[in-house]
Amino acid sequence: MCGITGYIGSKKTYEVLLDGLRRLEYRGYDSSGIAVQVGNSIKFLKRKGKIIELEKSPEIKNMVGTMGISHTRWATHGIPNEINAHPHLDCKKEIALVHNGIIENYHQLKEKLVREGHKFISATDTEVVAHLIEKYYKKNNFESAVVRAIEDIHGSFALAIIHKDSEKLIAARRGSPLIIGVGRNENFIGSDVPAILKFTKKVIYLNDDEIAILSPNNIIVKNLQGKIIRPKVNEIKWSLDQIEKGGFKHFMLKEIFEQPQAISNALSARIINNKIKLDLKINPKNLQRIFLVACGTAWHAGLVGKYIIEKLTRKSVEVDIASEFRYRNPIIGKGDLLIAVSQSGETADTLESIKLAKHQGAKTLGIVNAVGSSIAREVDEVIYLQAGPEIGVASTKAFTCQVICLLLFALYMGEKGGNKIEKIVIKDLQALPKLIKKILSKSKDIQKIAKKYVNAQSSLYLGRGINFPIALEGALKLKEISYIHAEGYPAGEMKHGPIALVDEKLPVIFIANDDHTLEKIISNMEEIKARQGKIITVTNVAAEKIKKVSDDIIGVPKTSEIISALINVVPLQILAYYVADLRGIDMDKPRNLAKSVTVE
Ligand code: AGP
Ligand code: GLU
Repeated sequence: MCGITGYIGSKKTYEVLLDGLRRLEYRGYDSSGIAVQVGNSIKFLKRKGKIIELEKSPEIKNMVGTMGISHTRWATHGIPNEINAHPHLDCKKEIALVHNGIIENYHQLKEKLVREGHKFISATDTEVVAHLIEKYYKKNNFESAVVRAIEDIHGSFALAIIHKDSEKLIAARRGSPLIIGVGRNENFIGSDVPAILKFTKKVIYLNDDEIAILSPNNIIVKNLQGKIIRPKVNEIKWSLDQIEKGGFKHFMLKEIFEQPQAISNALSARIINNKIKLDLKINPKNLQRIFLVACGTAWHAGLVGKYIIEKLTRKSVEVDIASEFRYRNPIIGKGDLLIAVSQSGETADTLESIKLAKHQGAKTLGIVNAVGSSIAREVDEVIYLQAGPEIGVASTKAFTCQVICLLLFALYMGEKGGNKIEKIVIKDLQALPKLIKKILSKSKDIQKIAKKYVNAQSSLYLGRGINFPIALEGALKLKEISYIHAEGYPAGEMKHGPIALVDEKLPVIFIANDDHTLEKIISNMEEIKARQGKIITVTNVAAEKIKKVSDDIIGVPKTSEIISALINVVPLQILAYYVADLRGIDMDKPRNLAKSVTVE
């Protein structure tokens, strides 16, 4: 997701725009830019890197005019560089716009516009919108040209647009947030309230398929049919810190709750008529072995990916922790594929593993969140998570989107290898955001359970099959933010040692799914109960036998086994969050940890 600001009024344009942009940096920070209307021309300036790069450019002082727009980017299409930074303009440099969202049909629109003679300079999806408006613009019909362009677009957008000849600043949205700040003889646009809070507490929340036409002393809101809408003007009561976190206490909780949207974004434009669309060159027919390499939470996603890829492609998958892979003299070479999973795209051990695999002749694929990151540039091909920036050190939405991308990859390779995709899997995948929302609605019940175990000294997480990696992930979440020791284990391994830990003080978290391992899991639970262990069960089964041995049950919705890991991880994220919160820890910045481990 990106940050957008817009301003129309008599203050120094760049000062207002940059002030807002700085407060939106948490929404994206790989490049930024600004455009202003000066006389009857458009001036613009763009820089790769954080907003400071734009601020320290001498030319920024020239960005003063009657109105302007600016943008801090989190790339989804087109690597982070100056050309792909927003604003994007039309051929004649008469229209400038900034965008938050994904134009899903940009390929088709771009091909048509190029055939019609438009010259594109960036690799982004966004640029098509500037050329569409140019296509429809005749003299003085700026507003209707914007509406016609919007009607051609599929996907999500929050847009702020200026034209060299128009005295109006236009905003429009569908699926991405956009607010209008109501000032005195000046008006503002922002992706979120922090962008405008310094200047006004009066805001209008634009709704989907509405446009706003701003002049210094007037705001008109219309729907796409041109009907004028009387907008509600809201008074902001929140503090700035609360708003950056979307009203959540921590970024981590915000990102846990963003998962339905993040998963929708990860799936966006990648399932069309029950077919997977990934545009990969990799052909399963020429593939020998698959290696999955990652660290921490990403490694857990890789372990889930192993179950999924082997089930859907019947190709064997080896999963390695990157810091082990690179020093074990791995037997990997031509015809093999190394898949590197990484949220930041900067993890040193994962990056070095890719280089080693390439050196030995293997092909490489990245499953990465940060567009244009070192890993994204090192691999032969990349599938982006499209999860938006993950600020909390403990990875949550990136994990679920990593598993989603691995599942999409497995479905794609399975289909290319001639295996039929079960329609139920596609249906369950598309239903996932709704199912996760159901779990999120029970977060306060999970908080009550957290209260009972806030002073535990240690804990055990147990799962089988595809849910064994979820046991590992649940344990990592708890230990890295609450500092309580936690271990994830295959439930079948208990008798080989860990059961010695069990006593009346030890909370044991089980994942019990309605799959072929259920009976085994229930007998493991009975063994723990017989030794007075405290049992918390995450389950989609309403069985008496589970109720009898569980001290607490967190019910989750049923789904295909291959997708169940994505359901079961969410309650464990919430449990860890509340235990840490109750222990008074700022889990956005846990001690000793960094968001990206760029050192070995
Ligand atoms: C997970 O909560 C941790 N923040 C950490 O294990 C992380 O997953 C690991 O460092 C890998 O980071 P990456 O995905 O950016 O490569
Ligand atoms: N899709 C646009 C780009 O890649 C906007 C990205 C976003 O909203 O994060 O530039």
